[in-house]
Amino acid sequence: MRGSVNTQSQLAYSADRANQYIAENKGTVNPLYRNRYHASPPVGWMNDPNGFVQFQGAYHLFYQFHPYDAKWGPMHWGHMKSTDLIHWEDLPVALAPDQAYDRSGCFSGSAIERDGKLYLLYTGVTEANEEGVHHQVQCLAVSEDGVNFEKVQQNPVIPVAALPADASQIDFRDPKVFEHEGMYYTVVASKAGDETGQILLYQSADLVEWQFASVFLKGNKEQGIMWECPDFFRLNGKDCLIFPAMQWPQDGDDYQNLNASVLAVGEVDWATKQFHPESYQELDHGLDYYAPQSLEDDKGRRICIGWMQMWGRNFPTDTLGHNWTGSMTIPRELKWEDGKLKQYPIGIEAIADNQGENSPVITMVDTKESIPGIAGDCGLLTLKVDTSGLEKLSIHLRENENERTVVYYDKAKNELGFDRSASGIELKGEEAHPPVSRKVTLSGKSDHLELAIYLDSSSVEVFEKNGEVVMTSNVYPTAEAKGISFECSGKAVFEEATFTPFI
Ligand code: FRU
Repeated sequence: MRGSVNTQSQLAYSADRANQYIAENKGTVNPLYRNRYHASPPVGWMNDPNGFVQFQGAYHLFYQFHPYDAKWGPMHWGHMKSTDLIHWEDLPVALAPDQAYDRSGCFSGSAIERDGKLYLLYTGVTEANEEGVHHQVQCLAVSEDGVNFEKVQQNPVIPVAALPADASQIDFRDPKVFEHEGMYYTVVASKAGDETGQILLYQSADLVEWQFASVFLKGNKEQGIMWECPDFFRLNGKDCLIFPAMQWPQDGDDYQNLNASVLAVGEVDWATKQFHPESYQELDHGLDYYAPQSLEDDKGRRICIGWMQMWGRNFPTDTLGHNWTGSMTIPRELKWEDGKLKQYPIGIEAIADNQGENSPVITMVDTKESIPGIAGDCGLLTLKVDTSGLEKLSIHLRENENERTVVYYDKAKNELGFDRSASGIELKGEEAHPPVSRKVTLSGKSDHLELAIYLDSSSVEVFEKNGEVVMTSNVYPTAEAKGISFECSGKAVFEEATFTPFI
Protein backbone atom coordinates (compact mmCIF):
# COMPACT_ATOMS: atom_id res chain seq x y z
CA MET A 1 0.00 0.00 0.00
CA ARG A 2 1.15 3.54 -0.66
CA GLY A 3 1.94 5.58 2.36
CA SER A 4 5.66 5.29 2.68
CA VAL A 5 7.43 8.28 1.28
CA ASN A 6 10.58 9.10 -0.57
CA THR A 7 13.44 7.65 1.40
CA GLN A 8 15.93 8.35 -1.36
CA SER A 9 15.90 12.12 -0.97
CA GLN A 10 19.62 12.15 -1.59
CA LEU A 11 18.70 11.57 -5.24
CA ALA A 12 17.66 14.72 -6.99
CA TYR A 13 14.49 14.04 -8.91
CA SER A 14 13.70 16.25 -11.85
CA ALA A 15 11.46 16.11 -14.89
CA ASP A 16 14.58 16.08 -17.12
CA ARG A 17 16.07 13.13 -15.31
CA ALA A 18 12.75 11.26 -15.56
CA ASN A 19 12.39 12.03 -19.28
CA GLN A 20 15.88 10.79 -19.97
CA TYR A 21 15.26 7.63 -17.98
CA ILE A 22 12.01 6.99 -19.88
CA ALA A 23 13.71 7.49 -23.27
CA GLU A 24 16.46 5.04 -22.30
CA ASN A 25 14.23 2.43 -20.67
CA LYS A 26 10.87 2.33 -22.41
CA GLY A 27 12.24 -0.31 -24.76
CA THR A 28 12.63 -2.70 -21.81
CA VAL A 29 8.90 -2.99 -21.21
CA ASN A 30 7.49 -6.46 -21.87
CA PRO A 31 4.30 -5.98 -23.93
CA LEU A 32 2.64 -9.32 -23.05
CA TYR A 33 -0.01 -7.91 -20.70
CA ARG A 34 0.21 -4.33 -21.85
CA ASN A 35 -3.19 -3.03 -22.76
CA ARG A 36 -3.49 -1.85 -26.34
CA TYR A 37 -6.25 0.72 -26.14
CA HIS A 38 -6.12 1.77 -22.50
CA ALA A 39 -3.78 4.48 -21.24
CA SER A 40 -0.66 2.96 -19.63
CA PRO A 41 2.70 4.41 -18.61
CA PRO A 42 5.61 4.18 -21.09
CA VAL A 43 7.62 2.44 -18.36
CA GLY A 44 7.28 2.22 -14.59
CA TRP A 45 4.27 2.56 -12.31
CA MET A 46 0.97 4.39 -12.86
CA ASN A 47 -1.85 5.06 -10.41
CA ASP A 48 -4.57 7.70 -10.19
CA PRO A 49 -5.63 9.81 -13.17
CA ASN A 50 -4.76 13.45 -12.46
CA GLY A 51 -5.44 16.77 -14.19
CA PHE A 52 -7.89 15.30 -16.68
CA VAL A 53 -8.74 18.29 -18.86
CA GLN A 54 -9.37 19.51 -22.38
CA PHE A 55 -6.82 22.13 -23.41
CA GLN A 56 -6.12 23.65 -26.83
CA GLY A 57 -8.28 21.07 -28.58
CA ALA A 58 -6.85 17.90 -27.01
CA TYR A 59 -7.73 15.78 -24.01
CA HIS A 60 -4.86 15.83 -21.52
CA LEU A 61 -4.44 13.11 -18.97
CA PHE A 62 -1.86 13.35 -16.20
CA TYR A 63 -1.30 10.52 -13.79
CA GLN A 64 0.51 9.39 -10.65
CA PHE A 65 3.78 8.09 -12.02
CA HIS A 66 6.91 6.44 -10.69
CA PRO A 67 9.06 6.12 -13.80
CA TYR A 68 11.96 4.30 -12.14
CA ASP A 69 10.18 1.16 -10.99
CA ALA A 70 7.06 -0.90 -11.66
CA LYS A 71 6.11 -0.28 -8.01
CA TRP A 72 4.71 2.81 -6.31
CA GLY A 73 7.47 5.22 -5.31
CA PRO A 74 8.31 8.94 -5.31
CA MET A 75 5.42 10.36 -7.23
CA HIS A 76 5.83 12.32 -10.44
CA TRP A 77 3.07 13.42 -12.79
CA GLY A 78 3.16 11.55 -16.08
CA HIS A 79 1.37 13.17 -19.01
CA MET A 80 -0.31 12.07 -22.22
CA LYS A 81 -2.81 13.53 -24.64
CA SER A 82 -5.39 12.28 -27.07
CA THR A 83 -7.98 13.53 -29.51
CA ASP A 84 -10.24 10.46 -29.35
CA LEU A 85 -9.70 9.36 -25.71
CA ILE A 86 -8.46 5.95 -26.91
CA HIS A 87 -5.14 6.59 -28.68
CA TRP A 88 -2.78 8.34 -26.27
CA GLU A 89 0.46 10.13 -27.07
CA ASP A 90 3.06 10.34 -24.32
CA LEU A 91 4.29 13.82 -23.39
CA PRO A 92 7.19 14.82 -21.15
CA VAL A 93 6.81 14.37 -17.40
CA ALA A 94 4.87 17.37 -16.05
CA LEU A 95 5.91 17.40 -12.37
CA ALA A 96 8.77 15.86 -10.44
CA PRO A 97 9.25 15.96 -6.65
CA ASP A 98 12.02 18.56 -6.75
CA GLN A 99 11.04 21.18 -4.13
CA ALA A 100 11.09 21.12 -0.32
CA TYR A 101 7.28 21.32 -0.30
CA ASP A 102 6.82 18.30 -2.61
CA ARG A 103 10.11 16.40 -2.21
CA SER A 104 8.32 13.33 -0.87
CA GLY A 105 5.93 13.19 -3.78
CA CYS A 106 3.73 15.13 -6.17
CA PHE A 107 0.45 13.46 -5.22
CA SER A 108 -2.87 13.58 -7.01
CA GLY A 109 -4.64 16.70 -8.19
CA SER A 110 -6.44 18.32 -11.05
CA ALA A 111 -6.20 20.89 -13.84
CA ILE A 112 -8.07 23.95 -14.99
CA GLU A 113 -7.62 26.49 -17.77
CA ARG A 114 -7.52 30.18 -16.92
CA ASP A 115 -6.80 33.00 -19.41
CA GLY A 116 -5.36 30.54 -21.92
CA LYS A 117 -2.95 28.97 -19.42
CA LEU A 118 -3.16 25.51 -17.93
CA TYR A 119 -2.93 25.25 -14.13
CA LEU A 120 -2.25 22.09 -12.15
CA LEU A 121 -3.35 22.02 -8.52
CA TYR A 122 -1.71 19.08 -6.78
CA THR A 123 -0.66 17.78 -3.38
CA GLY A 124 2.94 18.21 -2.33
CA VAL A 125 4.18 15.79 0.31
CA THR A 126 6.81 17.78 2.13
CA GLU A 127 10.26 16.85 3.28
CA ALA A 128 10.25 15.49 6.81
CA ASN A 129 10.26 18.18 9.50
CA GLU A 130 12.36 17.93 12.72
CA GLU A 131 9.92 15.34 14.11
CA GLY A 132 10.25 13.28 10.96
CA VAL A 133 6.71 14.19 9.87
CA HIS A 134 5.70 14.71 6.22
CA HIS A 135 2.86 17.16 5.74
CA GLN A 136 0.54 17.30 2.79
CA VAL A 137 0.01 20.73 1.23
CA GLN A 138 -1.62 21.97 -1.96
CA CYS A 139 0.57 23.40 -4.71
CA LEU A 140 0.13 25.06 -8.08
CA ALA A 141 2.00 24.79 -11.38
CA VAL A 142 1.29 26.66 -14.59
CA SER A 143 1.95 26.19 -18.28
CA GLU A 144 1.51 28.33 -21.38
CA ASP A 145 1.80 25.44 -23.84
CA GLY A 146 0.22 22.62 -21.84
CA VAL A 147 3.52 20.70 -21.90
CA ASN A 148 6.10 22.55 -19.80
CA PHE A 149 5.02 23.41 -16.27
CA GLU A 150 6.46 25.80 -13.75
CA LYS A 151 5.66 25.60 -10.07
CA VAL A 152 4.55 29.00 -8.72
CA GLN A 153 6.65 30.94 -6.22
CA GLN A 154 3.75 31.22 -3.76
CA ASN A 155 3.75 27.44 -3.15
CA PRO A 156 2.34 25.87 -1.13
CA VAL A 157 -0.81 27.76 -2.05
CA ILE A 158 -2.82 25.89 0.62
CA PRO A 159 -0.46 25.23 3.54
CA VAL A 160 -1.39 23.17 6.62
CA ALA A 161 -2.03 26.47 8.43
CA ALA A 162 -5.17 26.77 6.28
CA LEU A 163 -6.62 23.57 7.75
CA PRO A 164 -9.63 23.77 10.03
CA ALA A 165 -9.32 22.46 13.60
CA ASP A 166 -9.48 18.71 13.90
CA ALA A 167 -8.12 17.95 10.43
CA SER A 168 -4.99 15.88 9.89
CA GLN A 169 -1.88 17.62 8.53
CA ILE A 170 -0.66 14.28 7.21
CA ASP A 171 -3.78 13.22 5.30
CA PHE A 172 -4.78 16.31 3.34
CA ARG A 173 -4.69 15.69 -0.37
CA ASP A 174 -5.97 15.39 -3.92
CA PRO A 175 -7.47 18.81 -4.77
CA LYS A 176 -10.05 18.87 -7.56
CA VAL A 177 -10.57 22.39 -8.80
CA PHE A 178 -13.74 23.76 -10.41
CA GLU A 179 -15.48 27.04 -11.12
CA HIS A 180 -18.82 28.04 -9.65
CA GLU A 181 -20.47 31.41 -10.26
CA GLY A 182 -17.25 33.25 -11.03
CA MET A 183 -15.25 31.81 -8.15
CA TYR A 184 -12.73 28.97 -8.11
CA TYR A 185 -13.24 26.20 -5.61
CA THR A 186 -11.38 23.06 -4.77
CA VAL A 187 -12.54 20.02 -2.86
CA VAL A 188 -9.72 18.37 -0.92
CA ALA A 189 -9.70 15.04 0.94
CA SER A 190 -8.90 15.17 4.63
CA LYS A 191 -8.84 12.89 7.63
CA ALA A 192 -10.84 14.12 10.61
CA GLY A 193 -9.63 13.67 14.19
CA ASP A 194 -12.04 10.78 14.79
CA GLU A 195 -10.37 8.75 11.99
CA THR A 196 -13.10 9.34 9.45
CA GLY A 197 -13.02 10.79 5.96
CA GLN A 198 -14.12 14.30 5.14
CA ILE A 199 -14.05 16.63 2.18
CA LEU A 200 -12.92 20.22 2.67
CA LEU A 201 -13.82 23.12 0.39
CA TYR A 202 -11.48 26.04 -0.36
CA GLN A 203 -12.17 29.06 -2.54
CA SER A 204 -10.05 31.46 -4.57
CA ALA A 205 -10.50 34.33 -6.98
CA ASP A 206 -7.24 33.68 -8.85
CA LEU A 207 -6.13 30.06 -8.12
CA VAL A 208 -3.16 31.40 -6.12
CA GLU A 209 -4.68 32.77 -2.91
CA TRP A 210 -7.02 30.32 -1.26
CA GLN A 211 -9.33 30.58 1.75
CA PHE A 212 -10.91 27.77 3.71
CA ALA A 213 -14.63 27.76 2.87
CA SER A 214 -16.23 24.81 4.66
CA VAL A 215 -16.25 21.19 5.67
CA PHE A 216 -18.13 20.23 2.52
CA LEU A 217 -19.05 16.73 3.69
CA LYS A 218 -18.04 14.77 6.78
CA GLY A 219 -18.16 11.00 6.94
CA ASN A 220 -19.05 8.82 9.88
CA LYS A 221 -17.54 5.68 11.40
CA GLU A 222 -19.50 3.44 8.99
CA GLN A 223 -18.03 5.18 5.95
CA GLY A 224 -14.38 4.23 5.94
CA ILE A 225 -11.22 5.59 7.56
CA MET A 226 -10.11 8.08 4.90
CA TRP A 227 -11.54 9.42 1.67
CA GLU A 228 -9.26 10.30 -1.24
CA CYS A 229 -9.38 11.99 -4.65
CA PRO A 230 -12.72 13.82 -4.42
CA ASP A 231 -14.44 15.01 -7.57
CA PHE A 232 -17.40 17.37 -7.62
CA PHE A 233 -19.71 18.27 -10.50
CA ARG A 234 -23.31 18.85 -11.41
CA LEU A 235 -25.02 16.28 -13.58
CA ASN A 236 -28.41 16.98 -15.06
CA GLY A 237 -29.66 18.93 -12.03
CA LYS A 238 -27.98 16.78 -9.37
CA ASP A 239 -24.86 17.58 -7.37
CA CYS A 240 -22.44 14.68 -7.47
CA LEU A 241 -19.48 14.07 -5.21
CA ILE A 242 -17.22 11.16 -6.01
CA PHE A 243 -14.63 9.96 -3.53
CA PRO A 244 -12.67 6.74 -3.32
CA ALA A 245 -12.96 5.57 0.27
CA MET A 246 -10.48 3.46 2.20
CA GLN A 247 -12.18 0.59 4.01
CA TRP A 248 -15.78 1.50 3.20
CA PRO A 249 -17.62 -1.48 4.75
CA GLN A 250 -19.15 -4.23 2.66
CA ASP A 251 -22.88 -4.08 2.13
CA GLY A 252 -24.24 -7.25 0.56
CA ASP A 253 -22.78 -7.52 -2.93
CA ASP A 254 -21.63 -3.90 -2.83
CA TYR A 255 -18.28 -2.51 -1.64
CA GLN A 256 -16.60 -5.91 -1.73
CA ASN A 257 -13.14 -4.46 -2.31
CA LEU A 258 -11.23 -3.06 0.64
CA ASN A 259 -11.36 0.36 -1.00
CA ALA A 260 -14.27 1.53 -3.13
CA SER A 261 -15.07 4.46 -5.36
CA VAL A 262 -18.23 6.00 -3.96
CA LEU A 263 -20.66 8.43 -5.60
CA ALA A 264 -22.72 10.59 -3.27
CA VAL A 265 -25.64 12.33 -4.96
CA GLY A 266 -27.37 15.24 -3.31
CA GLU A 267 -27.53 19.02 -3.21
CA VAL A 268 -25.08 21.70 -2.22
CA ASP A 269 -26.37 24.53 -0.08
CA TRP A 270 -24.19 27.31 -1.44
CA ALA A 271 -25.12 29.60 1.48
CA THR A 272 -23.39 27.28 3.96
CA LYS A 273 -21.24 25.61 1.28
CA GLN A 274 -22.19 22.18 2.50
CA PHE A 275 -23.03 19.11 0.51
CA HIS A 276 -26.19 17.31 1.60
CA PRO A 277 -26.07 13.72 0.38
CA GLU A 278 -29.27 11.91 -0.53
CA SER A 279 -27.75 8.59 -1.57
CA TYR A 280 -24.46 6.73 -1.87
CA GLN A 281 -23.56 4.10 -4.43
CA GLU A 282 -20.54 2.17 -5.61
CA LEU A 283 -19.41 3.35 -9.03
CA ASP A 284 -18.07 0.07 -10.36
CA HIS A 285 -18.87 -3.51 -9.40
CA GLY A 286 -15.63 -5.06 -10.59
CA LEU A 287 -12.46 -5.92 -8.73
CA ASP A 288 -10.05 -3.28 -10.02
CA TYR A 289 -11.30 0.28 -10.18
CA TYR A 290 -10.19 3.26 -8.11
CA ALA A 291 -9.73 7.02 -7.95
CA PRO A 292 -11.79 8.11 -10.98
CA GLN A 293 -11.56 11.69 -12.20
CA SER A 294 -13.84 13.53 -14.60
CA LEU A 295 -13.94 16.51 -16.94
CA GLU A 296 -16.65 18.27 -18.89
CA ASP A 297 -15.68 18.51 -22.53
CA ASP A 298 -16.63 21.02 -25.20
CA LYS A 299 -19.51 18.78 -26.25
CA GLY A 300 -20.93 19.10 -22.72
CA ARG A 301 -20.10 15.50 -21.87
CA ARG A 302 -19.09 14.58 -18.30
CA ILE A 303 -16.32 12.08 -19.00
CA CYS A 304 -14.80 9.99 -16.26
CA ILE A 305 -11.69 7.83 -16.30
CA GLY A 306 -10.49 5.60 -13.45
CA TRP A 307 -7.36 3.76 -12.40
CA MET A 308 -7.92 0.16 -13.49
CA GLN A 309 -6.19 -1.36 -10.47
CA MET A 310 -6.79 -1.69 -6.77
CA TRP A 311 -4.47 -1.06 -3.85
CA GLY A 312 -3.34 -4.10 -1.93
CA ARG A 313 -3.29 -6.47 -4.90
CA ASN A 314 -0.26 -8.29 -6.25
CA PHE A 315 0.80 -6.70 -9.53
CA PRO A 316 1.98 -9.44 -11.94
CA THR A 317 3.64 -7.07 -14.40
CA ASP A 318 5.89 -5.97 -11.56
CA THR A 319 6.66 -9.39 -10.11
CA LEU A 320 7.33 -10.81 -13.57
CA GLY A 321 9.79 -8.03 -14.27
CA HIS A 322 7.81 -6.52 -17.15
CA ASN A 323 8.88 -3.01 -16.11
CA TRP A 324 5.44 -1.42 -16.05
CA THR A 325 2.29 -1.50 -13.90
CA GLY A 326 -1.05 0.22 -14.17
CA SER A 327 -3.61 1.23 -16.70
CA MET A 328 -6.65 3.49 -16.93
CA THR A 329 -10.17 2.38 -17.78
CA ILE A 330 -11.70 3.38 -21.05
CA PRO A 331 -13.42 6.73 -20.61
CA ARG A 332 -17.08 6.68 -19.66
CA GLU A 333 -19.70 9.34 -20.13
CA LEU A 334 -21.68 9.88 -16.94
CA LYS A 335 -25.35 10.78 -17.15
CA TRP A 336 -28.12 11.17 -14.64
CA GLU A 337 -31.20 9.57 -16.20
CA ASP A 338 -34.46 8.28 -14.70
CA GLY A 339 -33.18 9.09 -11.22
CA LYS A 340 -30.08 6.94 -11.74
CA LEU A 341 -26.44 7.25 -12.63
CA LYS A 342 -25.70 5.82 -16.08
CA GLN A 343 -22.21 5.18 -17.42
CA TYR A 344 -21.68 4.79 -21.14
CA PRO A 345 -18.36 3.78 -22.67
CA ILE A 346 -16.96 6.23 -25.18
CA GLY A 347 -14.25 5.95 -27.71
CA ILE A 348 -15.69 2.96 -29.55
CA GLU A 349 -15.80 5.18 -32.67
CA ALA A 350 -12.01 5.02 -32.56
CA ILE A 351 -11.94 1.25 -32.84
CA ALA A 352 -15.04 0.78 -34.95
CA ASP A 353 -13.40 1.10 -38.40
CA ASN A 354 -13.32 -2.62 -38.41
CA GLN A 355 -16.79 -3.11 -36.95
CA GLY A 356 -17.43 -6.82 -36.47
CA GLU A 357 -20.12 -8.53 -38.54
CA ASN A 358 -23.34 -9.21 -36.70
CA SER A 359 -23.93 -12.96 -36.74
CA PRO A 360 -27.38 -14.27 -37.76
CA VAL A 361 -29.80 -15.01 -34.90
CA ILE A 362 -28.51 -18.05 -33.04
CA THR A 363 -30.49 -20.14 -30.57
CA MET A 364 -28.69 -22.26 -27.97
CA VAL A 365 -30.40 -24.69 -25.61
CA ASP A 366 -28.58 -26.48 -22.78
CA THR A 367 -25.23 -26.39 -24.52
CA LYS A 368 -21.73 -24.91 -24.66
CA GLU A 369 -20.80 -23.51 -28.04
CA SER A 370 -18.91 -20.78 -29.73
CA ILE A 371 -20.27 -18.49 -32.43
CA PRO A 372 -18.44 -18.30 -35.77
CA GLY A 373 -16.50 -15.02 -36.05
CA ILE A 374 -16.69 -14.32 -32.31
CA ALA A 375 -13.21 -14.76 -30.87
CA GLY A 376 -10.32 -12.61 -29.78
CA ASP A 377 -8.46 -11.22 -26.81
CA CYS A 378 -8.52 -7.53 -27.62
CA GLY A 379 -11.67 -5.77 -28.76
CA LEU A 380 -15.33 -5.24 -28.09
CA LEU A 381 -17.90 -8.01 -27.69
CA THR A 382 -21.51 -6.86 -27.96
CA LEU A 383 -24.43 -9.15 -27.23
CA LYS A 384 -28.19 -8.86 -27.23
CA VAL A 385 -29.79 -12.00 -25.87
CA ASP A 386 -33.47 -12.88 -25.56
CA THR A 387 -33.57 -14.48 -22.11
CA SER A 388 -37.25 -15.41 -21.94
CA GLY A 389 -36.42 -19.15 -21.88
CA LEU A 390 -33.09 -18.83 -20.06
CA GLU A 391 -31.96 -20.18 -16.73
CA LYS A 392 -28.26 -19.23 -16.81
CA LEU A 393 -25.85 -18.01 -19.45
CA SER A 394 -22.08 -18.10 -18.89
CA ILE A 395 -19.88 -16.25 -21.34
CA HIS A 396 -16.39 -17.69 -21.36
CA LEU A 397 -13.82 -15.09 -22.34
CA ARG A 398 -10.05 -15.30 -22.73
CA GLU A 399 -10.52 -19.05 -22.99
CA ASN A 400 -7.86 -21.66 -23.69
CA GLU A 401 -7.52 -25.29 -22.65
CA ASN A 402 -6.98 -24.51 -18.98
CA GLU A 403 -8.14 -20.99 -18.38
CA ARG A 404 -11.19 -18.84 -18.79
CA THR A 405 -12.76 -15.65 -17.45
CA VAL A 406 -16.49 -15.93 -16.90
CA VAL A 407 -19.23 -13.33 -17.14
CA TYR A 408 -22.58 -14.88 -16.24
CA TYR A 409 -26.23 -13.98 -16.03
CA ASP A 410 -28.59 -15.86 -13.73
CA LYS A 411 -32.12 -15.18 -14.93
CA ALA A 412 -34.04 -16.22 -11.79
CA LYS A 413 -31.87 -14.03 -9.60
CA ASN A 414 -31.55 -11.33 -12.29
CA GLU A 415 -27.89 -11.36 -11.37
CA LEU A 416 -24.86 -10.43 -13.45
CA GLY A 417 -21.58 -11.92 -12.27
CA PHE A 418 -17.87 -11.90 -13.03
CA ASP A 419 -15.47 -14.69 -12.10
CA ARG A 420 -11.72 -14.70 -12.65
CA SER A 421 -10.91 -17.69 -10.42
CA ALA A 422 -9.65 -19.61 -13.48
CA SER A 423 -8.40 -16.63 -15.50
CA GLY A 424 -4.65 -17.19 -15.09
CA ILE A 425 -2.16 -15.72 -12.63
CA GLU A 426 -3.64 -15.72 -9.14
CA LEU A 427 -4.59 -12.29 -7.88
CA LYS A 428 -4.61 -11.65 -4.17
CA GLY A 429 -5.79 -8.73 -2.10
CA GLU A 430 -6.03 -7.39 1.41
CA GLU A 431 -9.70 -8.33 1.58
CA ALA A 432 -10.81 -11.17 3.87
CA HIS A 433 -12.03 -13.11 0.80
CA PRO A 434 -9.94 -13.75 -2.33
CA PRO A 435 -10.71 -11.01 -4.85
CA VAL A 436 -11.82 -13.33 -7.64
CA SER A 437 -15.52 -12.78 -8.21
CA ARG A 438 -18.31 -10.27 -7.86
CA LYS A 439 -21.98 -10.14 -8.65
CA VAL A 440 -24.69 -7.56 -8.84
CA THR A 441 -28.46 -7.73 -9.06
CA LEU A 442 -29.78 -5.80 -12.03
CA SER A 443 -32.61 -3.40 -11.45
CA GLY A 444 -35.85 -4.21 -13.25
CA LYS A 445 -36.78 -7.50 -14.84
CA SER A 446 -36.35 -7.81 -18.56
CA ASP A 447 -36.38 -10.55 -21.17
CA HIS A 448 -33.34 -9.07 -22.84
CA LEU A 449 -29.76 -8.95 -21.70
CA GLU A 450 -27.54 -6.47 -23.51
CA LEU A 451 -23.85 -6.36 -22.80
CA ALA A 452 -20.83 -4.50 -24.17
CA ILE A 453 -17.64 -6.19 -23.00
CA TYR A 454 -14.30 -4.51 -23.63
CA LEU A 455 -11.38 -6.91 -23.64
CA ASP A 456 -7.77 -5.83 -23.65
CA SER A 457 -4.52 -7.69 -23.00
CA SER A 458 -5.11 -7.79 -19.23
CA SER A 459 -8.50 -6.19 -18.62
CA VAL A 460 -12.21 -6.88 -18.91
CA GLU A 461 -14.81 -4.11 -18.62
CA VAL A 462 -18.41 -5.28 -18.66
CA PHE A 463 -21.11 -2.68 -19.39
CA GLU A 464 -24.68 -3.69 -18.99
CA LYS A 465 -26.24 -1.88 -21.91
CA ASN A 466 -28.52 0.54 -20.14
CA GLY A 467 -25.48 1.89 -18.35
CA GLU A 468 -26.53 1.06 -14.81
CA VAL A 469 -23.88 -1.55 -14.09
CA VAL A 470 -20.19 -1.63 -14.93
CA MET A 471 -17.74 -4.30 -13.75
CA THR A 472 -14.03 -3.62 -14.29
CA SER A 473 -11.31 -6.17 -13.52
CA ASN A 474 -7.87 -7.35 -14.55
CA VAL A 475 -6.96 -10.85 -15.77
CA TYR A 476 -3.60 -12.36 -16.65
CA PRO A 477 -3.97 -15.56 -18.74
CA THR A 478 -0.75 -17.58 -18.68
CA ALA A 479 -1.01 -18.72 -22.32
CA GLU A 480 -2.62 -17.34 -25.46
CA ALA A 481 -6.34 -17.10 -24.66
CA LYS A 482 -8.47 -15.90 -27.57
CA GLY A 483 -11.43 -18.22 -27.22
CA ILE A 484 -14.97 -17.02 -26.52
CA SER A 485 -17.76 -19.52 -25.87
CA PHE A 486 -21.26 -19.54 -24.44
CA GLU A 487 -22.64 -22.05 -21.99
CA CYS A 488 -26.34 -22.01 -21.25
CA SER A 489 -28.95 -23.86 -19.32
CA GLY A 490 -32.37 -23.22 -20.79
CA LYS A 491 -32.66 -21.26 -24.01
CA ALA A 492 -30.57 -18.27 -25.06
CA VAL A 493 -31.50 -16.53 -28.30
CA PHE A 494 -28.62 -14.38 -29.53
CA GLU A 495 -30.35 -11.64 -31.50
CA GLU A 496 -27.07 -9.80 -31.86
CA ALA A 497 -23.51 -10.94 -31.37
CA THR A 498 -20.47 -9.09 -32.71
CA PHE A 499 -16.80 -8.99 -31.93
CA THR A 500 -14.96 -5.87 -33.05
CA PRO A 501 -11.23 -6.48 -32.80
CA PHE A 502 -9.11 -3.54 -31.76
CA ILE A 503 -6.58 -2.67 -34.43
C1 FRU B 1 -5.16 7.35 -4.21
C2 FRU B 1 -3.92 7.96 -3.61
C3 FRU B 1 -4.10 9.45 -3.42
C4 FRU B 1 -2.70 9.96 -3.44
C5 FRU B 1 -2.04 9.07 -4.44
C6 FRU B 1 -0.60 8.79 -4.17
O1 FRU B 1 -4.95 6.22 -4.97
O2 FRU B 1 -3.61 7.34 -2.37
O3 FRU B 1 -4.82 9.80 -2.27
O4 FRU B 1 -2.61 11.31 -3.81
O5 FRU B 1 -2.78 7.85 -4.44
O6 FRU B 1 0.00 8.18 -5.26
